[in-house]
Amino acid sequence: MSLRKRWFAWMYHTFVSRTGTPDFADTLTREVRAPLLARARGQVLEIGAGDGANLPFYPSQTQVTLLEPNRYLLAYLRDRWPGVRCTVTGGLLGWGERLPFGERQFDTVVATHVLCSVRDQGQVLAEIKRVLRPGGQFLFLEHVAAPPRSLTLAVQHALNPAWSALGDGCRLTRDTGAAIQAAGFRSVEVRSFRAPYPPFVSPHIVGVALV
Ligand SMILES: C[S@@+](CC[C@H](N)C(=O)[O-])C[C@H]1O[C@@H](n2cnc3c(N)ncnc32)[C@H](O)[C@@H]1O
Repeated sequence: MSLRKRWFAWMYHTFVSRTGTPDFADTLTREVRAPLLARARGQVLEIGAGDGANLPFYPSQTQVTLLEPNRYLLAYLRDRWPGVRCTVTGGLLGWGERLPFGERQFDTVVATHVLCSVRDQGQVLAEIKRVLRPGGQFLFLEHVAAPPRSLTLAVQHALNPAWSALGDGCRLTRDTGAAIQAAGFRSVEVRSFRAPYPPFVSPHIVGVALV
């Protein structure tokens, strides 16, 4: 585990998620993240759970398993378990490309701001489908590439190398909505919107894919 992972964990926890504490003054939290996670039900798996910024939003009757590949973020995450209203059934070190679970174990899988960073989106989406029960749902919130031929997309391409180095492999130019549509879910409900962030991270999608 590199120094870079440790630095990213500290930077993300301190400045981006603001110690994983929900900020309802933030419109993305209030209007998008909280309503999305309110849809979670049953046995939930969250991949790339970071420092646990989603934990306060899970409904009380959910049982949530957390997966995170960065052990420094996992340590922050463990600090957040006490006091949340859902039941946290465990926190594991692991990657979305190879989920350490059998088939059809979860009712809900969650990824927020994760598919921008994974090494292989197609493999992660196949794994999500594999571990979902029939009728299960994948809840997602991601920043994505700006529209083709736009100035914002050109800026995203220019910033990608530096952004990726600072952001632990995060890419600004992924068409994650298309990847989810192509992954073979039974149905995909997706909404595009602009988050109140700098223009190059503003294009977002939020939605639910069903198996
Ligand atoms: C921008 S952070 C988002 C954290 C959290 N989901 C949130 O919304 O605050 C991206 C997260 O994805 C994780 N990640 C990166 N590559 C991953 C992979 N291949 N599989 C699972 N998680 C991954 C990172 O360790 C990090 O926790």
